[in-house]
Amino acid sequence: MLKGQRVISMLTAYDYPTARLVDEAGIDIILVGDSLGMVVLGFPDTTHVTLDMMLHHTSAVARGVKKALIIGDMPIHSYDTPEQAINTAKALTNAGADVVKLEGGINQVAKVKGIVAAGIPVIGHHGMLPQRVLEEGGYKKKGKTEEESESILQGARALQEAGCFALVLESIIPSLAEKITAALDIPTIGIGCKGKDKKQTCDGEVAVITDVVGSYPWFIPPFANQRANIAEEITRATQEYIASLS
Ligand code: KIV
Repeated sequence: MLKGQRVISMLTAYDYPTARLVDEAGIDIILVGDSLGMVVLGFPDTTHVTLDMMLHHTSAVARGVKKALIIGDMPIHSYDTPEQAINTAKALTNAGADVVKLEGGINQVAKVKGIVAAGIPVIGHHGMLPQRVLEEGGYKKKGKTEEESESILQGARALQEAGCFALVLESIIPSLAEKITAALDIPTIGIGCKGKDKKQTCDGEVAVITDVVGSYPWFIPPFANQRANIAEEITRATQEYIASLS
């Protein structure tokens, strides 16, 4: 059962104009996600993203946002120890994030506690963890076995206990996403956690902005909710511009 009637809306943004537009359009939360490694910087996955890159993009987003909550993603190897996690969280909030996000379950409890004790709110990211793509050999749906489901549920409870104010759940089977959402007091925000019926299984929904506006046509995840085709518009406008010069 979801905790409220209204679904919390969250989109990624990585630059000033996009952040300003989605903020003015009324989005609840903007995530400066490390997905920027792929959809903005052209890397094959998020493992190439550094803290310096995140700080650069977080400050650009912060300059464009007046209302939405801004989440700064903690990139891989920027939170290997609790001390490093606290320093990274401070750097991201100094760059303009209101909240930080880190990936993982029970193993991240000490880091979440440390960041929260430093006065910085944390959102967890549980289920499929993109920063582990190389170890796992791809992006795999989570919760398909009883054992894996139980470990994800325990991890979610531990993150709540540690002080996370919300959890992103990524690519978890719908029944498990619903179970976690019902078991927790804090909101869950899903990506790739719906079934074929598209029924909401989390309290909120997050999407990568380029999937929604169609500006990164080379990879579109199966669960994408595309609402525009900016790639086609850029191609058309460029060709019209070139033609107009002759
Ligand atoms: O980096 C990102 O865009 C994310 C979302 C997929 C939740 O973490």
